[in-house]
Amino acid sequence: MKTRITELFGIKHPIIQGGMHYVGFAELAAAVSNAGGLGIITGLTQPSAAALADEIAKCKDMTDKPFGVNLTFLPVVNQPDYPGMVKAIIDAGVPVVETAGNNPQAVLPHLKDAGIKVIHKCTSVRHSLKAQSIGCDAVSVDGFECGGHPGEDDIPNMILLPRAADELEIPFVASGGMADARSLVASLAMGADGMNMGTRFIATQEAPVHENVKKAIVAATELDTRLVMRPLRNTERVLNNAAVERLLEKEKDLGGDIKFEDIIQEVAGVYPRIMKEGDMDAGAWSCGMVAGLINDIPTCQELIDRIMDEAHALINQRLGGLLAA
Ligand SMILES: Cc1cc2nc3c(=O)[nH]c(=O)nc-3n(C[C@H](O)[C@H](O)[C@H](O)COP(=O)(O)O)c2cc1C
Repeated sequence: MKTRITELFGIKHPIIQGGMHYVGFAELAAAVSNAGGLGIITGLTQPSAAALADEIAKCKDMTDKPFGVNLTFLPVVNQPDYPGMVKAIIDAGVPVVETAGNNPQAVLPHLKDAGIKVIHKCTSVRHSLKAQSIGCDAVSVDGFECGGHPGEDDIPNMILLPRAADELEIPFVASGGMADARSLVASLAMGADGMNMGTRFIATQEAPVHENVKKAIVAATELDTRLVMRPLRNTERVLNNAAVERLLEKEKDLGGDIKFEDIIQEVAGVYPRIMKEGDMDAGAWSCGMVAGLINDIPTCQELIDRIMDEAHALINQRLGGLLAA
């Protein structure tokens, strides 16, 4: 399949694996890229710019296909070494950067000067237009369904994607709630040039996370996510668990007076305990409603091949058949 996204990134299939904290290591990024999609290493999971350079080198040893690095700009306790990370990305010749969380203006000129393609992930049409106006090459439009940070507008993809298509000139991928060929074909129908998946890629053989995490996603239904940190205007969609229920109780009790310090136990530094140790109640971790559509743990190659085979059948047989009738 050829779209503006496959052309822009030099990939076979219009499928991207979004950056994911403590999931987007070289093993997953390389597996997605080897399967013809675009794998992405999560920059901020690495403790330093030097460690990121090592992770990029490791990924290069595992694939000769294009892959990217995610740089997330979110409110964090200790400011990461963004200039060092940008330098590591440029020095290694990484062809794509996925930015997210905030306006990437500060790093954009350095990346563009180095010939790097930048896809900015955002949750609204106005932020997508801003990304286009400052020179991003593409956007990843993340609907309300998404795992992680859906923003504060709460617009699901059935509305957000056609709205983005009406306004944007640069290519965009649909993100949030994407799992299978139906997601891809529907996204293309709504004007996107491909799709970005997060949660779906965690439940794959190559995702370097504890088996408990994969099993939790397979076991979960579309009813099992919750929105946390809304009162702090840092909303995150997470899988429900004991820590999340505690956190939501605190939000209810403290109301508008809640501060980050009140929920630090449930959200700060919990990812290694969940993703590496498999302690599923250690804290709040991002997960999309799409968990309800995930019932197996295939390899990335099996997953992407299945999506593309079924997408062809969906377009040629089901949709084409409706027209012929
Ligand atoms: C466990 C997890 C961690 C994530 N971490 C990040 C991150 O560090 N930076 C980022 O830009 N997006 C992050 N995301 C969002 C994904 O890149 C992607 O946009 C999102 O998962 C899409 O929604 P889906 O899960 O419904 O596919 C994360 C998502 C998950 C599930």
